[in-house]
Amino acid sequence: MTKLFSKVLPFAIALLFCGCEHQESMNDLADRVFSSAAQQCELMAQSIDSLRTPRSFDGTKLITARPKWWCSGFFPGTLWLVYEYTGEEKFRTFAERETAKVEPMKWVTDDHDVGFQINCSFGQQYRLTGDSHAREVMHTAARSLASGFNPTVGCIRSWYFQLRGSSWQFPVIIDNMMNLELLMSVAELENEPELAHVAVSHANTTMKNHYRPDFTTFHLVDYNPADGSIIDRQTVQGYADDSAWARGQAWSLYGFTMMYRFTRDASYLERATSVADMLLSRLPEDGIPYWDFDSPKIPDEYKDASAAAVMASAFIELADYVQDGSSYLSMAERQLRTLSSDEYLAEPGTNGGFILKHSVGNMPGNSEIDVPLSYADYYFLEALGKFKK
Ligand code: GLY
Repeated sequence: MTKLFSKVLPFAIALLFCGCEHQESMNDLADRVFSSAAQQCELMAQSIDSLRTPRSFDGTKLITARPKWWCSGFFPGTLWLVYEYTGEEKFRTFAERETAKVEPMKWVTDDHDVGFQINCSFGQQYRLTGDSHAREVMHTAARSLASGFNPTVGCIRSWYFQLRGSSWQFPVIIDNMMNLELLMSVAELENEPELAHVAVSHANTTMKNHYRPDFTTFHLVDYNPADGSIIDRQTVQGYADDSAWARGQAWSLYGFTMMYRFTRDASYLERATSVADMLLSRLPEDGIPYWDFDSPKIPDEYKDASAAAVMASAFIELADYVQDGSSYLSMAERQLRTLSSDEYLAEPGTNGGFILKHSVGNMPGNSEIDVPLSYADYYFLEALGKFKK
């Protein structure tokens, strides 16, 4: 006994005085976050209006939106992710109820966001349950989305409205890359290669026209629909036309990583790694980008948790596709650890039921600045789930 004590004691003393703090394992971190997410989701599911979807929180009240709002698929998707992690039936019930609200969006042909709306809700339902109705909804929605394709331009049109005196003819935003996931999934499921052709054409045209030599991307490229020529390159949600709006860079990373998943086309992998390497060289120490990488106010500027969450999810997937993905994985881990800290992760019962704090929706539009946003929550849980797997 004395012998054992004399062997163990030096280690115990070394441990006490070495100054190294115990770091929470990523498994424990995921358990902690999902437990908090489950409490928040239950709160949200119990308080949300039966016809509306959660959008943000202004410090006192929940801000909701009609299912037509581009974010309507994220809360149902978050509920599906919580159901997947916890296995608790009540989250499946909530998820089915919230997913059903989004169904009418399957008919929308004048907004590219039908991809986000349906893929994050019905797409998750189909992935987890194999429900045949969910699959039918995805199919209808994919055809609606593809109807916005113009073969002369080679892209799907993103927006059908004008903003702040714009006169766009055929605007395509980098965010649209995310909507291709619905087309690629349905093309495979229903054996409809023409849906994949639309997605591939859109990705190739975006790869050619949206990027700058340093692999940052413009937010919006406006095309002439009659001949496919470029009219202008602009920003709507970024600091300036030639700046790197953080969430746009996140959509770009995720979009090309996802397209590589479906096609194994080396040019998509090459583009995703170029974007990833640009991000590794520009992200701040804690992994959370300022809302625009080129804001002149940095470091006195708002961070955007949503962009970090989307990037983390993409970095984890991309790490699997390259020979040595350790730098991508360690950036994702850093981002997830920061997002799981008290600074970003809401105390259960606060934050209007949202999981994360501190995102920026649209700074130039003076809307949703330093607030919770449903897509930050969705991609945060998606990333944690992927990391754990
Ligand atoms: N798709 C709109 C946004 O990222 O804010």
